[in-house]
Amino acid sequence: MVTGSGRPGPIAFTTVPEFQTSPGMRDILPPESARWRRFVDVFARVTEAAGYGQVMSPLLEDLGVFQRIGDATDVVSKEMYDFVDKGGRHIALRPELTASVCRAFVQHRPLAPWKVWYTGSMFRYEKPQRGRYRQFDQVGIEVLGTDDPNVDVEVIALGWEFYRALGLQQVTLLVNSLGEPEDRARYVEALRTHFEANLADLSEESKVTLGKNPLRVLDSKRPQDAPLVAAAPKIADFYSEKAAAHFDAVRAGLVALGIPFTVDTKLVRGLDYYRYTTFEFQGGTLDSAQNALGGGGRYDGLVEALGGPATPGIGFALGLDRTLLACDDEGVFAAPSTAVDVFVVDTTGGTEALTITAQLRAAGLSADRAYENRSMKSQMKGADRSGAAFAVIVGSNELEAGTVVVRPLRAELSDDTASGQAVVPRTDLLDHLTKVMS
Ligand code: HAM
Repeated sequence: MVTGSGRPGPIAFTTVPEFQTSPGMRDILPPESARWRRFVDVFARVTEAAGYGQVMSPLLEDLGVFQRIGDATDVVSKEMYDFVDKGGRHIALRPELTASVCRAFVQHRPLAPWKVWYTGSMFRYEKPQRGRYRQFDQVGIEVLGTDDPNVDVEVIALGWEFYRALGLQQVTLLVNSLGEPEDRARYVEALRTHFEANLADLSEESKVTLGKNPLRVLDSKRPQDAPLVAAAPKIADFYSEKAAAHFDAVRAGLVALGIPFTVDTKLVRGLDYYRYTTFEFQGGTLDSAQNALGGGGRYDGLVEALGGPATPGIGFALGLDRTLLACDDEGVFAAPSTAVDVFVVDTTGGTEALTITAQLRAAGLSADRAYENRSMKSQMKGADRSGAAFAVIVGSNELEAGTVVVRPLRAELSDDTASGQAVVPRTDLLDHLTKVMS
């Protein structure tokens, strides 16, 4: 009995859909979704091998958690998805996870050093474009409770190792130090003085940035600002002895591990909480505005800002969306095959396909089947489309004889298996498949 409305395959849609994803938000469909999951699996393998455990925190936090990142940051002042819930709480969808991890540290008081990794979606109300979305995913790590520069090196090295594990070859590493909080504060004042003394030469956009956060003027890519940015005071001239020694140790560690890097004294990054080490991984292929695949740094002070004891911290987050675009551009880390091992074709109209797929799945093989008791031709089309290595075919003759036909579906398999198609007793199906698939 045919119960469906048409042939297997594409269904004809005639109307424009009433609903689509909101701007900057995307559906991740198979097989791409399998690639996303594998991405996270690789990240888990790399970080868990270094003693990091996964932290899973809510998508929503009290708005205040993120406000402690600092109001001068666009992420906080302009891009937050915040609202008042039914209980009157002012909450926000997380724009990043570092503040959530620090909040969790203060709440649960785990033993230090606390080494955690995470993955999940973040939300920022940004102007969508390639590599920049309103909902995007990150993987990241944080280490709380130690200011040992060896941890800075370990954290950076894990990011580097992860990119290598994906197969990316064109990623470059930029590092900088923003010094101790007092160094940073003196530097910010020196920058303000420098830019204010030359205000007429500064672009209108940078004048606005200067009023909010002079450090971010260094990020300007506008040609008009280039001479003033180049002539700006350098952070290295403001380091305390302690900050200089910390940065020396970090660079020495990277050299010891053979990780190539460039010191970029203008690398301030978009978030306000950074102290001491900051770093960024840049892709070789994306537009310059989106080529920051990931980044991080030390944020000594954030745990305190969230009501905890003075606790140093360092970490990074890598954008999944952007890193996969870089993988596409470099032709590495392709989506894994989601094809099943076996496709069952059953024209008997009974329960053969049901029981055979159940038996195969229970034995650890992946198996799919056709539905709606279609013709042999139509079911074989489905088998081909499925990408399965073998079709297991049951018609009325086989049912009567207690056999099944096993047919290789890919040319390379027919060549390898001596007999190509085989008629196999139903009871020997598993053994036969195990043999031909090994
Ligand atoms: P972030 O630089 O804001 O740092 O974001 C890290 C990465 O997330 C970026 O390099 C980028 O790949 C990705 N990303 C950011 N915004 C978007 C977007 N709108 N669309 C697509 N991808 C995006 C942080 O989030 C810090 N929490 C990193 C950190 C961890 N620092 C210390 N610990």
